[in-house]
This record gives sequence, C-alpha cells and structure tokens, in this order.
Amino acid sequence: MRKQIVAGNWKMNKTLQEGIDLAKSVNELNEQVDGDVEVIVAAPFIHLSEVSRVLSSVRLSAQDCASEANGAFTGEVSAEMVRSAGVEYVIIGHSERRTIFKEDDITLNKKIKLALDNGLIPIFCCGEVLEERESGKLFDVIQTQVEIALFDLDPADMGKIVIAYEPVWAIGTGVVATPEQAQEMHAYIRKLIREKFGDSLADELTILYGGSCKPSNAREIFANTDVDGGLIGGASLNAEDFIAIVQSF
Ligand code: 13P
Repeated sequence: MRKQIVAGNWKMNKTLQEGIDLAKSVNELNEQVDGDVEVIVAAPFIHLSEVSRVLSSVRLSAQDCASEANGAFTGEVSAEMVRSAGVEYVIIGHSERRTIFKEDDITLNKKIKLALDNGLIPIFCCGEVLEERESGKLFDVIQTQVEIALFDLDPADMGKIVIAYEPVWAIGTGVVATPEQAQEMHAYIRKLIREKFGDSLADELTILYGGSCKPSNAREIFANTDVDGGLIGGASLNAEDFIAIVQSF
C-alpha cells in the first residue's frame, strides 16, 4: 500500500508565534479527519523545535538542509541538526532552491544522502520550467533530475524517498497542471524508478503533485492513479484550506 501524503510548505512565511499558532490549528483540525493520509508541515528552520512540541497528529519537515555534514559553513543548517530538533522529513531540491540559490543536481544528491544518513526522509522535488515543457524537453529534464539525485542510492534508502513533481510554471502562479499533465508525468517518474529499482519499490513510491493546489482543484488531481498526494505552498498557510485539501482524498 502506497502512503498518501499531504505536505504544507510554508516557505519563508510566518513569524515564530504565527507558525506555532498555525501548527496548532492544523494539528487540531487534522485530529478530526478520518483516514490514513499522512499530514506534514514544512516549517522554517527556526520554527522547527517549537513547532515539534505542538504537533501530535501531524508530522514535521524542514524545507532544506546543508550539503555538508558540519563545520565552517556560516548560516547553514545540517541534516543532523534538523533531525535533533524532532523533525522527520526534509524537502530537498525545491525549484526555489534550484533557481534562486543555484543548487545543482549533484549538490542535491549530497543533501539526500546526508538526510538519509541522519534518519530524515527526503521529499525530493523535481520539475520543468515552462520553456522546457513547451519545447518538448520536459521528460528529459525530469529524467536528468531524478537520475542524478537518486539513482546511486541503495534500494533500501530509495525505498524511503518521497518524490514531489512540481512543474515550475505552476508554482505560485494560480496555473495548475491539468489532471492529465500531472498523471502523465507521475507515471513517467514511476516508470523511471521501476526500470532502475524494480516493481515493488516503484509501486510503493509516494509521488506528490505541487503547484497551485487548492481545495477547489485538489480532488481531481489526487484522483489520478499515480498521484499520491500534494505538496502545498500558498494554501498551506491557512489551516482550514490546508485541511480541506487533506480531505480531498
Ligand atoms: P503553491 O502551492 O503556492 O503554488 O506552491 C507550491 C510549492 O512550491 C510547494 O512546495
């Protein structure tokens, strides 16, 4: 049975107190939701340890971790530090990290290994920009991102990974991928994993969709065979909207 997940990526939003309040509300509302969907919030680094104290029905994620284990890297936060703050998941390779902070696939591969070594579950993001989709390069782009980041992992480690497909043109734009576009790419990602790691690992892999996902469109996206949940940006900043998305399954 594949795990279904709805994860909220708060990005660089909310003060510490606002973050604690939001986490409490999400946790409370989620307690009333039936079903097996795993709900995750990805809070900013400095919120993590306080937020971890108020969550019970909801899991906690960081939004990134360093590509080095420790040492003289001013301003960075290591996977080990993240784990020590009571965190279970870490988003790695979000398109904002790739484009704004110039993180490349090799760096992301290092982050994934450090996350796994420290007991964190990576939520690995991949996605194409509009130009790549329109020029027909979308499948090659995703293949390269997935291969470099994930293909040298041990099967046991790969079995822990969650993948999030986030088409960059759909992030924060209000333009959501059609259910057909999401299904097509999710099936392609699962096929890549199947060819490299075999049937059982591919069948168990959770693949999330991200990009302008809202209560009004989540149901038709989540209804697709290869879509196992969502990575939610803007709509995760409001507890009611976020939980309405959780209830879309
Ligand atoms: P939006 O839901 O705001 O489009 O953001 C998606 C995203 O980037 C989640 O990681």
